[in-house]
Amino acid sequence: MAAAVSNAGGLGILTSLTQPSPDDLRKEIRRCRSMTDKPFGVNLTVLPTISPPPYGDYAQVIIDEGIKIVETAGLVKDYVPKFKEAGCVILHKCTTIRHSLSAVKMGVDFLSIDGFECAGHVGEHDIPNFVLLNRAQEQLRKPDGSIVPFIASGGMANGRSLAAALSLGACGINMGTRFMCTVEAPIHHNIKESMVKATEDDTELLMRRWTNTARFYKNPVTQAAGKIERESKTGKFEEIQDYVSGKRGRQVFLNGDPDYGVWTAGICMGLIHDIPTCDELLKRIEMEAKDAVQQQASQWKDDSRARL
Ligand SMILES: Cc1cc2nc3c(=O)[nH]c(=O)nc-3n(C[C@H](O)[C@H](O)[C@H](O)COP(=O)(O)O)c2cc1C
Repeated sequence: MAAAVSNAGGLGILTSLTQPSPDDLRKEIRRCRSMTDKPFGVNLTVLPTISPPPYGDYAQVIIDEGIKIVETAGLVKDYVPKFKEAGCVILHKCTTIRHSLSAVKMGVDFLSIDGFECAGHVGEHDIPNFVLLNRAQEQLRKPDGSIVPFIASGGMANGRSLAAALSLGACGINMGTRFMCTVEAPIHHNIKESMVKATEDDTELLMRRWTNTARFYKNPVTQAAGKIERESKTGKFEEIQDYVSGKRGRQVFLNGDPDYGVWTAGICMGLIHDIPTCDELLKRIEMEAKDAVQQQASQWKDDSRARL
């Protein structure tokens, strides 16, 4: 998948933790390299979990394999200096301006500003991208006053998204949900079809009660978990643990049953109407964005007064 995105002119990102072990990540990086001669990155997401994976070993594999672009998310303070020392460019994902500014202080190179629309961990502040990106443009500066570049993430699905993100100060977009609905996405075709059928109203937020809010495709499992979360007298996470199990969620992508477990998807499902190749998708997005920008520009007269 990452190779297909890079071959299509994007920057494909491999996710460390989808690999069962650091050694599997090493193999996957090598496999990706055999499929593309274009640059690609690797994501390292560090989240508080009951039994944490060996994050340090994953980070070491990323460095040893000579990866030069690392996407980080979560609690990565301990790993940023190591990646910088190894000469990596670090793209850090944040859902608030406050966290973005801390990440800049930590030494990351650029930011992926992840609005509330996004799939997966939306954070606890619920700021959608229309305001968040605009605030990023106002606020993101290094200590020497220079601008920190950022890309827009969350809810991005077509050329109009790209045009809007550029207008709000981003220098590109990051897409998760949209890429799940491509020919190359390594998930069951039924799941892609379910996403095409879904609307912007078909996601559900879970785990706010434990300050670990994530957005999922809405199905009977998320609805049952949500009910327990709202109504539990004990407030113990264990009560919904089985429902939100990642293991069960991963089965969905293999068996093609969208209702088998919980799985992440963003509200931009409402904007997804087909299953193109990555190449077709990226070409189309570029064309749509150009059209959108030209159309906007044509609304203005030379003297810059609107014709409205
Ligand atoms: C199936 C799936 C798995 C994801 N896994 C991760 C992850 O492990 N780490 C991470 O930082 N973001 C992860 N994300 C979030 C994306 O990187 C991205 O921030 C998000 O999808 C952007 O919002 P969008 O889905 O509206 O495009 C995942 C997203 C999806 C759809």
